[in-house]
Amino acid sequence: MDELRDFRRAAHGLVDAVTDHLAALPSGPVWQPLPDALRKELLELPLPENASTLEDLVATAMRDVVPHAMGNGHPAFFGWVNPPPSPAGVMASLAAAAMNPSVVSGDHADVHLERAVVRWLAELVGFPHAPGAGLLTSGGSAATLVCLAGARSRALAAAGHDVRGDGLAGAPQLIAYVPAEAHSCVRRALELLGLGSNSMREVPLAEGRLDTAALRASIAADRASGALPALLVGSAGTVNTGAIDPLDALADAAAAEDLWFHVDGAYGAFGVLDPAIAARYRGMERADSLVLDPHKWLGVPVDAGCALVRDGNDLREAFSLIPPYLRQDTDSEVGTFAELGFEQTRPFRALKTWATIAARGRVGIAAQVARANELARQLGTLVEREPELELAAMPETSIVAFRACPADCPSDGLDELNRRLPEAVQARGRAFVTGTVYDGRETLRACILHPDTTPEHLETLVAEVLAAAVTPRSSSTNPSG
Ligand SMILES: Cc1ncc(COP(=O)(O)O)c(C=O)c1O
Repeated sequence: MDELRDFRRAAHGLVDAVTDHLAALPSGPVWQPLPDALRKELLELPLPENASTLEDLVATAMRDVVPHAMGNGHPAFFGWVNPPPSPAGVMASLAAAAMNPSVVSGDHADVHLERAVVRWLAELVGFPHAPGAGLLTSGGSAATLVCLAGARSRALAAAGHDVRGDGLAGAPQLIAYVPAEAHSCVRRALELLGLGSNSMREVPLAEGRLDTAALRASIAADRASGALPALLVGSAGTVNTGAIDPLDALADAAAAEDLWFHVDGAYGAFGVLDPAIAARYRGMERADSLVLDPHKWLGVPVDAGCALVRDGNDLREAFSLIPPYLRQDTDSEVGTFAELGFEQTRPFRALKTWATIAARGRVGIAAQVARANELARQLGTLVEREPELELAAMPETSIVAFRACPADCPSDGLDELNRRLPEAVQARGRAFVTGTVYDGRETLRACILHPDTTPEHLETLVAEVLAAAVTPRSSSTNPSG
């Protein structure tokens, strides 16, 4: 077959070119803006009338696309929560695409492998797992929606309301208790599920401790007003500072008040593998649902999220719907993946997740996680040593939140300075950091996920932040400015 002969040749060329690209990454700039002409060319690409050869496609991709990435392949990239891809995961992505199954049900390897990988993920973080009590998703946001749909379904069923039949009309108002530092995907899920963001109450947390009495008073007030307290959320690693909420105390409160306890471990759940902080995660294993993202700390190529629940029936109650034209494995005890979430055609996310985990093993992953946390502590020390920088929070996991406070900057200019700093650092090309608002103040946050990040990269970051802290007040973020 000519097509396969061409594929073999072009794909071999692609593997070589991609490998060269990955090898060259650490010595280039972390990120650069696209040249104006290329941006315009990409945006205005005409629909091709005629066929291209596969080799031409490889050449174009390697020239116009692959080199102009977001920067997360570089060990001095500290932005958001975006690691480099694991080589094993990149390789597996090719094989998964070549199989191209829809991973729903049936006796094919991808279905069984996803069940095993979901169990592995639960085992890695010490969450109890029964077959059918979880699935891979496109990421943490989708996994959160899946889990909270389970929570809604259980709470309304207990109140005698048929949400699948009647929608929310006539249903009691469900209330969700959500820490201020919870990721926005929790609020988005609550909005999408029709609970509305006004159903959110802030969980009284101060300096990592739960004010249980205040929480229970807030729950009692909601019950007294006729609402139905239903959900309590905790973070196993917040996105702003990597802080781990007091999960054990939250689990106690959820049990006492009969609330669904949801833990967002999208970023931080794998931190439990670091013996230095494992105890901080106590209580995570008591959650009704846990979200974790293999495409974050593990470096599985995007996309790979995971929703785990204590009882798979909660997901089946929320999602199971099998029209006659989709019947398959209807006698299976665990059901199909389409009965556990909202996707019908599902990609083969398990192969790249399997490959990423298997290429390092639990021991290798634990070492990588502990190393990232240690680097974060080192960065914290570097920040504390600089008179013109300050830590916004002590690092607990691998995220360091800090601010610039140059002596010559008036205190009412500090927020503006720190708001502009990330882009100024990014534009200089030697390190990449992003910003947030923490404690009401503009803050930089560095998230360490790259296995090849070294203490020298941390020093570069600190030096770049200090250097950029001088320019943004007077000039643009242009590197030449
Ligand atoms: C703590 C936390 N939860 C949830 C999410 C959302 O995950 P995703 O971007 O995979 O949808 C993120 C993303 O950074 C996160 O850091």
